[in-house]
Amino acid sequence: METSSFSSMLLFQLLMLLPAFIAASTQPKMSQTYIIHMDHSSKPDHFSDHESWHQHTVNSVSLTCREDKEPFLYSYTHVMHGFSAKLTPCQLTEVEKSPAHVATYKESFGKLFTTHSPDFLGLKRSSGIWPTASYGKDVIIGIIDTGIWPESESFSDKGMSKVPARWKGKCENGTAFIPSLCNKKLIGARSFSKGLQAAGINISTEYDFDSARDFMGHGTHTSSTAAGSYVFGASHFGYAKGSARGIAPSAHVAMYKVLWSSDTFASAATDILAGMDQAISDGVDIMSISLGLAQTPYYEDVIAIASLSAIEKGIVVVCAAGNEGPSTSSIYNGAPWIMTVGAGTIDRSYLATLELGNGLKFEGTSYFPQRVSISNTLLYFGRDDPKKSGCVSLSRTEVMEKVVVCDTTNLTDLYGQMEVVSNAGAYGAIFLTESLFLDPEDYSIPGILLPTRYGNEIMEYAWRNTSIVKSMQFVSTKTGSGPAPEVAYFSSRGPDPISPHILKPDILAPGVDVLAAVRPDVPFMEAGGYDLLTDYALYSGTSMAAPHVAGVAALVKAVHRDWSPAAIRSAIMTTATKGDNKLGTIHDQWNGLTATPLGFGAGHINPNGAMDPGLIYDLDTQDYIQFLCDLGYNETQMGAVIRRSQWGCHNNHTDLNYPSFIAGFNQTTSLSEKQFTRTLTNVGAPGSTYWASLEIPSGMIVSVEPNTIKFASKYQKHKFVLSIKLDKNAPKVNYGYLKWIDDHNHTVSSPIVVTNY
Ligand SMILES: *[C@@H]1O[C@H](CO)[C@@H](O)[C@H](O)[C@H]1NC(C)=O
Ligand SMILES: *[C@@H]1O[C@H](CO)[C@@H](O)[C@H](O)[C@H]1NC(C)=O
Ligand SMILES: *[C@@H]1O[C@H](CO)[C@@H](O)[C@H](O)[C@H]1NC(C)=O
Ligand SMILES: *[C@@H]1O[C@H](CO)[C@@H](O)[C@H](O)[C@H]1NC(C)=O
Ligand SMILES: *[C@@H]1O[C@H](CO)[C@@H](O)[C@H](O)[C@H]1NC(C)=O
Ligand SMILES: *[C@@H]1O[C@H](CO)[C@@H](O)[C@H](O)[C@H]1NC(C)=O
Ligand SMILES: *[C@@H]1O[C@H](CO)[C@@H](O)[C@H](O)[C@H]1NC(C)=O
Ligand SMILES: *[C@@H]1O[C@H](CO)[C@@H](O)[C@H](O)[C@H]1NC(C)=O
Repeated sequence: METSSFSSMLLFQLLMLLPAFIAASTQPKMSQTYIIHMDHSSKPDHFSDHESWHQHTVNSVSLTCREDKEPFLYSYTHVMHGFSAKLTPCQLTEVEKSPAHVATYKESFGKLFTTHSPDFLGLKRSSGIWPTASYGKDVIIGIIDTGIWPESESFSDKGMSKVPARWKGKCENGTAFIPSLCNKKLIGARSFSKGLQAAGINISTEYDFDSARDFMGHGTHTSSTAAGSYVFGASHFGYAKGSARGIAPSAHVAMYKVLWSSDTFASAATDILAGMDQAISDGVDIMSISLGLAQTPYYEDVIAIASLSAIEKGIVVVCAAGNEGPSTSSIYNGAPWIMTVGAGTIDRSYLATLELGNGLKFEGTSYFPQRVSISNTLLYFGRDDPKKSGCVSLSRTEVMEKVVVCDTTNLTDLYGQMEVVSNAGAYGAIFLTESLFLDPEDYSIPGILLPTRYGNEIMEYAWRNTSIVKSMQFVSTKTGSGPAPEVAYFSSRGPDPISPHILKPDILAPGVDVLAAVRPDVPFMEAGGYDLLTDYALYSGTSMAAPHVAGVAALVKAVHRDWSPAAIRSAIMTTATKGDNKLGTIHDQWNGLTATPLGFGAGHINPNGAMDPGLIYDLDTQDYIQFLCDLGYNETQMGAVIRRSQWGCHNNHTDLNYPSFIAGFNQTTSLSEKQFTRTLTNVGAPGSTYWASLEIPSGMIVSVEPNTIKFASKYQKHKFVLSIKLDKNAPKVNYGYLKWIDDHNHTVSSPIVVTNY
């Protein structure tokens, strides 16, 4: 199952190359695409709406600069007030002279963070949040992604309730997409590509569909994960066989396609904003975003700006944290109003068995997609030559039609080796490795990954010239394996680079080998010389984790219609699971050691608990405004993020009422104390009394005042102060928990993280 980690990483690196590509393709032109933020209240009365004012602004600067082009892209109403347009330096200068001008952002480009998981999350038909939330009935999840494959069984509307009357969205006509493909499950489908086209990238049918139809399969996968209908007998070539369904199987889905695979995968900030703007205007309840722009301050991060606008309208925004782990400070989409999701493993492994001629039997990881069986085949190990033993280069005559053993000690990836073995005409491969993975689609010949601890036994036997593989068998899935969840190798880690004093990610959700719908009409992979197609496939990435959380947010929303996005996030975070299925703490797939909240946030998502958290840490727009003031933003920067010309902040630093704690200490300074003030709101029964329980390791000294709180009524609020002192010799990252516990089975848990660099 670990094999998939690299798919997302590879994809990631591909995408990293994008800015260079764009720069090259736009070089001859003088004009560039900009997002222009305007003061909404400055619109002269004679314009009937903001769009005509924006268009007029662009037209008039074009006249002034003697440009005859029509470079207008989008007018934005909700995510920010302003527009995007392709402008020459002269036009830009003129636009910026306008007294209504607030800020300018250069076009930038985003990257994708690429039937069992509901069971793993404890979702049941008989009890818990599924029946209570009617499976997410009447909730609308907007997915900002690569499009959707509407014919997939996951988007069948059998048994779906009618489209909510408040819905204003629609399904647009386009290439290979007619509006009648939508139904009561898929209720919106739009695409946004003006920004990409303005950058000189062609949306041609060769590379993508000029419509909401999914070319890559990614958006189909994320949509079906969040809200796919029940599909019986889905599998990845026989692996993970079972029924596939989304986390909120009765919720409605609306697709906003902003990510295109023209030449390479690309999404322009202008298009992302347009998609988010439309989603807000259409009336989605939840937004799920599995892509990210650069890590920049919030006043330059249009996803952060647009998300704050969505939050103000009560929309929960869930974003993938990025796939740049295990490096620290690699979090994307970490603004404190966003729910930032890391990826964890699930308790399922994909196996092959190996029996050698000497009777030794092994079980290892494999995703080889066919039920082949290899028997009585010669084994090869090029022991005396590191190039051969490491499968860096093999002699065709030596390995032809044999099973090759590869010692991967000195290697950093396995893709090349799989290719070398396959090209040399071998029948199969045995990789001895502890930390290297292969993607499911890379098993072009029968291959098995075995831990290096078996290495000596196998190599010893294999280098004898008469050694054989007695049998090798594929396509076996084992559930309940573990430990799981673990923080996925690739999942981005905190602290957040922009706001290190807010703990990110917020939550961990399944993001490794997630089975969901894909594009069915193009080969998923090639094996044994055949192109293989599939309706459902295993994908990995924080891209896959975010829609799980979007689905849970939809369920919580269905139960508590009046809760704010912060309340829903608090409920999800404070009820998260801290342990794994082997009754230990969550580990890190990267090094096998105990993970920290910098990897898993508040813990692993626990949908049934989120329904009834007892207490919440709530936040409103004014809290976020005060947070931005406390960051020291000046008027221009504030105006850009909060889209207002007036706001109120006081000078005293105020703690954001966040459901987690992180304190950064500095090893060179002497012992000091940090204090956090928080406010709890009772959303459980009146008359509840909560006691503070601290689980704190040595090296940290934590106190809570008061440590008993009685809530006389529902929605009553109480403040408390948490103080942290640090022992000078404490480890670099240390963490514990504050748990508010009542006598009705509520445990309201928050991680407390202390860094001491
Ligand atoms: C729908 O889009 C297709 C492809 O772009 C086009 O051929 C067709 O005429 C459009 N139909 C309508 C009703 O606009
Ligand atoms: C885009 O594709 C069309 C049709 O394939 C072609 O005529 C045009 O030159 C392309 N434009 C660019 C910028 O590549
Ligand atoms: C790995 O590298 C070490 C040191 O360079 C070398 O001695 C050894 O033979 C190499 N092993 C393989 C399998 O390449
Ligand atoms: C296997 O064969 C190779 C070359 O044919 C020879 O060099 C090597 O000594 C043989 N190994 C054994 C264990 O017989
Ligand atoms: C705020 O800071 C930015 C960046 O330093 C600067 O460009 C801008 O002029 C400042 N605005 C105000 C009102 O000081
Ligand atoms: C700010 O802090 C000062 C000193 O601690 C206190 O007297 C004042 O009331 C605070 N103001 C607000 C608005 O909290
Ligand atoms: C720690 O404090 C010292 C002295 O004030 C300062 O020079 C250093 O940059 C600080 N380090 C960090 C990581 O903040
Ligand atoms: C608390 O949970 C336990 C085990 O889940 C259950 O047996 C008990 O009835 C619950 N108590 C209350 C007050 O809900």
